[in-house]
Amino acid sequence: MSEPIATGYAGGKIILFGEHAVVHGQPAIAVPLTSIRAEAEIYPGNGEFRIVLPEVQREFRFLRPQEGSENGLIVTARLVLEKLGQPVPDMTISLKSSIPQKSGFGSGAAVSAAIGRALSAALGMPLSDDELNRIVYEVEKMHHGTPSGIDNTVICYEKPIYFVRNQPIEFVTIARPIHLLVANLPHSTPTKVTVSDVRFLYEKHPRRVERIFNRIGHISREARKAIESGDVEALGPMMNENHRLLKRLTVSDDLMDRLCRLALRAGARGAKLSGGGRGGNIIVLIDKPSRGLITDALLKNGADRVFYSVLGGS
Ligand code: PMV
Repeated sequence: MSEPIATGYAGGKIILFGEHAVVHGQPAIAVPLTSIRAEAEIYPGNGEFRIVLPEVQREFRFLRPQEGSENGLIVTARLVLEKLGQPVPDMTISLKSSIPQKSGFGSGAAVSAAIGRALSAALGMPLSDDELNRIVYEVEKMHHGTPSGIDNTVICYEKPIYFVRNQPIEFVTIARPIHLLVANLPHSTPTKVTVSDVRFLYEKHPRRVERIFNRIGHISREARKAIESGDVEALGPMMNENHRLLKRLTVSDDLMDRLCRLALRAGARGAKLSGGGRGGNIIVLIDKPSRGLITDALLKNGADRVFYSVLGGS
């Protein structure tokens, strides 16, 4: 193919603290994960608008109303064009992504954000982060039912955030580097399912679950202070407690618990599930020298892939 007219990128994300409780109004902390990303390239079209996925050999077009419901990628493009007041252009978007899908890395939000960035740039009207964030949130609602909005926010702004639903976004400054391993597991459960199970549990045992949400919110607030003051060591026990609370919300499982335990035994400072749970990924706080040992322990005991990520510098 020729040179693209425009390109748009968006990275993945991980939630450090507060998942699930964030849906019910508590704070959560999430950070961008830029080592994996979605990439959209725009080329002149062949007389129509198409989004092609060369890696899986699929393509999507706008549908007429009687042709059924549109896929999220096309909905993203439609929302961008509506926002910009533009007709459907004669263009082809080629979309690639190295972000594992359905794993709590925000893959869906990242592909939407990459398309929004590329398409608006190709039309000479680049969207602001805020405009992009609103569009990606609309698409997230299609996929996840009642998302808190944390995924689209961290991905569109590409900065660590302290997020409270329906509140202005607050950015978090990472005072000292945080060394993390992110272990991607071979199984996953749709976030929609775990979110609705937690809601069900909340309806059944409101007082008990409310206390768990409040405690998770407290951990997120304390974790923010530790991150901003450079007290990285304090984050380990907070992660462990956050994991135990998520387990009580029924969103952990045997493999996640086992890998967290093994990581701690191999020298990690803390470990917890991250994201929707019952699969997806766990995050492990490490000191750099123990990286190899802990990575091996995770891979030998059931993790599919392990990423090393340094938050806030190298
Ligand atoms: O599965 P993920 O990483 O997209 O995380 C979802 C986080 C939840 O708090 C469980 C749901 C939400 O919308 O915030």
